[in-house]
Amino acid sequence: MCGIVGYTGPREAYPIVIKGLRRLEYRGYDSTGVALQNNGLKVYKKKGKVAELEENIVGKDLHAHAGIGHTRWATHGEPNDRNAHPHQSASGKLAMIHNGIIENYAQLKNELLKKGYTFKSDTDTEVLLNFIEEIMVNNECSLEEAVRVALKRVVGAYVILLLNEDDPETIIAARKGSPLVIGVGKGEHFLGSDASPMLEYTKEVVYVNDYELAIIRPDELILKNLGNEKLTPYVQKLDLELAAIEKGGYDHFMLKEIFEQPQTIQDCLRGRLDADAGTITMAGIDQYAEQIMNAKRIVMVACGTSWHAGLVAEYIFEELCRINVEVEYASEFRYRNPVISEGDVIIAISQSGETADTLVAIETAKAKGAIILGVVNVVGSSIARISHGGAYTHAGPEIGVASTKAFTAQLAVLTMIALKIGHAKGTLSNERYMGLLKELNAIPEKVAVALTHSEHIRKLASKYKDARDFLYLGRGYNFPVALEGALKLKEISYIHAEGYPAAEMKHGPIALVDETLPVVFVATRDSYHEKVVSNMQEIKARKGMVVSVITEGDETSTGLSNDVMIVPECDEILAPMLSVVPLQLLAYYIGVVKDLDVDKPRNLAKSVTVE
Ligand code: AGP
Ligand code: GLU
Repeated sequence: MCGIVGYTGPREAYPIVIKGLRRLEYRGYDSTGVALQNNGLKVYKKKGKVAELEENIVGKDLHAHAGIGHTRWATHGEPNDRNAHPHQSASGKLAMIHNGIIENYAQLKNELLKKGYTFKSDTDTEVLLNFIEEIMVNNECSLEEAVRVALKRVVGAYVILLLNEDDPETIIAARKGSPLVIGVGKGEHFLGSDASPMLEYTKEVVYVNDYELAIIRPDELILKNLGNEKLTPYVQKLDLELAAIEKGGYDHFMLKEIFEQPQTIQDCLRGRLDADAGTITMAGIDQYAEQIMNAKRIVMVACGTSWHAGLVAEYIFEELCRINVEVEYASEFRYRNPVISEGDVIIAISQSGETADTLVAIETAKAKGAIILGVVNVVGSSIARISHGGAYTHAGPEIGVASTKAFTAQLAVLTMIALKIGHAKGTLSNERYMGLLKELNAIPEKVAVALTHSEHIRKLASKYKDARDFLYLGRGYNFPVALEGALKLKEISYIHAEGYPAAEMKHGPIALVDETLPVVFVATRDSYHEKVVSNMQEIKARKGMVVSVITEGDETSTGLSNDVMIVPECDEILAPMLSVVPLQLLAYYIGVVKDLDVDKPRNLAKSVTVE
């Protein structure tokens, strides 16, 4: 998920590697480290920032002509010194850094434990490294061959860089699912998660593809597939500037993260959802499945966008698990001396895992005997640590202050929990369960389809950017999406917007409606659709402007709307992961056309660690 850097050539490697890590800081990370070929392997690593690592190793012998560096975004094993990368193999002769997730690491670890291996860290990375070394020793083969054999058994996403003490000039690299760029210099080579670490040294780059392996020496770059066939490296001329690279070619982190959602939802499902087998595996939930099934009440506790995810989850859990769900603003919950009964289950939802109100709310509930489950993005964060169990959202670092990809990842995790519990309880039929698993599996692709309409939504942003107020309306699963759409608009464009249950409009807000007020309906085709259409008619009758998020092919809503934003068909329970996407884009493009700082909106912080 995070950052890798490598160098081999005539220059001093350490300055290039450490500067490259600083260039990758924008990707967000929790720990960092370097490995240098310096009369044997020297490894320096620790939790914290790159600057702290640098301070920590001032004065050490950092001379080397080959080195690798890593910024970690923990997925397996808390952020601490021993889990930081690079990891060293059992023999100490190999050092490796890794971005990604090895899904079948537990199985590989068991095999190695049976062979007497011990582990210094809790990471999946160290397992892969020792798996490679075991093959190398057992088969008496080269490191390159051992990597090829090992990767054929690996399930998951990776980019790995390896140093071998016995071959000090060579770096071996491989990728599947995580990015790897090789910079081609004169008698030297550079490696990075993107081109930012190499930009000042070379503009000639090779983008490594999935299932490819590279053997890199100062004056040689060999590219192979896992079948050991040599490939011709396709060298491209880089024309991006540094600022653009950090954002992956997007103008802002927020847009990049909106467009990352097909991948991040996929990452969230990876290794957990098996639609064919009909299984959902989440260790941190499985161990509390009984308590959740038998809970009299589930309380979702969160703030902001995460609170909206809790509202969606309320509808899903009540529908699939037939358990009473309450959704609480953490800030209200914590000060109210809440009634907590034995067996209550609290689900704390948080991207940062550090939101003060949510943290104190669950400390309060925990002290009163509740089971605390965390649905958190940052591994090892405070909320994750004080929770009894839970599941990480694996959305990767979210840099934009407005939460986008974390929200849809939260929905994916909460949906998987509800599916698992409902199926186990028998309140969800096997047929509907299997159908929903299949549909959930298809959501990343449907989000990608929803994103293809971004240019149309950018045009709508110019059309509606001068409105003074917006009203966002939805029913059922789409009511929380209306709230989320309104929040996105407020925090990005500074235009006042209000989310409301569509039926509530006639109890007051309809007085606001006139020809200057855009009313955004979240109106995907579902069991509430007919009623929502009537609400559209009520707005039209009062000359209001109707802008609707609709399901592809919904002619009725199209006929009633001034403008539409289209998403693919899907089961209503999963619709929020699609219907929110146009609203994220609308808020983003209005902010851009108003020339506002969409990544860092005024007055806002990414993580509200104050009360
Ligand atoms: C979301 O766009 C906002 N930036 C904010 O509401 C955020 O969701 C809220 O502060 C909760 O943060 P958390 O998910 O990190 O706990
Ligand atoms: N899964 C590995 C770990 O948790 C790599 C995480 C990353 O991509 O930074 O250490």
